[in-house]
Amino acid sequence: MIKYDFYTYTDKMKQENQEYEQKIKQIQKIMNKKEIMLDWLDIKSTIQKEEIEDILSTAKTIQENADVFLVIGIGGSYLGAYSFIEAFKPYFKKQNCEILFAGYSLSSLYLNDLMEYLKDKEVIVNFISKSGSTLESNIIYNQVIRFLKKKYKDISKKVIITTDKKSSLMDYAEKMNFKTYVIPKNIGGRYSVFTSVGLLPMAVSGIDIKEILRGVKDGKKDISLAYEYAISRDLWYKKGKWIESFGVYEEKLLPFTEWLKQLFGETQGKNKKGILPISMLNTRDLHSLGQYYQEGTKILFETNIKIKKTTKIQIEKYNLSLDEINSLAVDNVALAHKQGGVNTNLITLDTLSYYNLARLAYFFMIAAAVGAYLLEVNPFDQPGVEEYKKRLKKDIGESL
Ligand code: PA5
Repeated sequence: MIKYDFYTYTDKMKQENQEYEQKIKQIQKIMNKKEIMLDWLDIKSTIQKEEIEDILSTAKTIQENADVFLVIGIGGSYLGAYSFIEAFKPYFKKQNCEILFAGYSLSSLYLNDLMEYLKDKEVIVNFISKSGSTLESNIIYNQVIRFLKKKYKDISKKVIITTDKKSSLMDYAEKMNFKTYVIPKNIGGRYSVFTSVGLLPMAVSGIDIKEILRGVKDGKKDISLAYEYAISRDLWYKKGKWIESFGVYEEKLLPFTEWLKQLFGETQGKNKKGILPISMLNTRDLHSLGQYYQEGTKILFETNIKIKKTTKIQIEKYNLSLDEINSLAVDNVALAHKQGGVNTNLITLDTLSYYNLARLAYFFMIAAAVGAYLLEVNPFDQPGVEEYKKRLKKDIGESL
C-alpha cells in the first residue's frame, strides 16, 4: 500500500488547481492517444508474456553459470535496473551471482579494478544501449569484449545485447550470434525500466519481476494522484521553488533517487525551464544540507519517501521500534522545515516491496511526463545532452 500526501505539510493550493483544468484535459488527450514514445504507459501490451518467460529462463541460466553479471549501460540503460537491484539487495550478504554495472562513467581506475576483479570469475555481460552509439558505454563494452576474448575461446554465450531492433548494435549482435532483447521503439531510455532493459538484470538479482509488473499494472489506479502531484510541482515552480529535493530515510532507496533525478531532470529541464531535482539521504544529510533547508535561501520543496515497516528492531529505551522512530523523524523534519519555509510532499510505503516500488516508479513516470507537458516541453527528448557529446567526440577523433 502507498499513501500519497501532497498537502499535509504544504499550503492548501487546491483552489489554484482550477486554472489547470483545461490544460489537464489536453494532456489527458495526448496520454490517452498514446502518441509517440508513450508505450510505457501500458507495458502489458508492449511486453508479451513469452518475453517475460524468456527473461526468466535466461536469468536462471545466468544465475547458474555466472559469478558476475556485468551490466554495461548509461542513463536510462542503467539507472532503472541499478535502483531496483540496490533497493532489494541485502546490505551485507554477498550474492551468488553478483551484479555489477559499468559503462556509466569513463573512470579508468574503475575499469582497471573491475578487470582485475573479473579475472578469476565466470562472467556474463549484458550490454544495454537503445541507440547503440553512446560513447561511454561503447568504449567500456569494447574493452570488456577484448578482455572476454582473451579469457574465453567462444564468447557467444557470454554476451547479451539489449538494443533497438534497427540499431547497428543489433546487426552486430546477430552477426556475433549473441542473445538479444529488443527495446520497444516507442519507449525512451528513462521510461524503459519495465522493459527487458530493467527486467533482465532485476530477474538475475532474484527480484520477482511478475510482482514488479503487477505493481506497474496497478499503478494505473494512481494516475489522477500523479496528475495532482504534477500540478502541485508546477505551482511550487511558479512560486519560485526551483529545486525539488527527493528525500529518503532508507539508504537502499538512494539509487532510486538517482533514477528520479534522471527521470525529472532529463524529462523537464529544457527551453530554460524545469525544476532541478536533487536528493537527500536522511537522517545523514540533516547533519549537512539540513542546515540549508531549515535556514538557507527559500528555493526548494521536498518530496520524501517514508517506509513504515522494515524490521522488528525495538529500541527499549523509548519503547518504540526503530522504524517508528525513523517515521517520527520524517514527520518532525517536515514540520521543522515547514516552519523554516520549506514544504514537503510525503509518500508512505507500508513496506519496501517489489510491488510498491514498481507502482511508485510508475507514478513518478506519469508525473514527470505530465509535468513536462505543463511546462510545454517535450518529455521524451534530451537535446541538451548532445552538446558535450559533440565536443568530446570531436576531441577524441570519433566521427560525429
Ligand atoms: O533517457 C534517455 O533516453 C537517455 O538517458 C539514454 O538512456 C542514455 O543517453 C543512454 O542511451 P542509449 O541507451 O542509447 O545508450
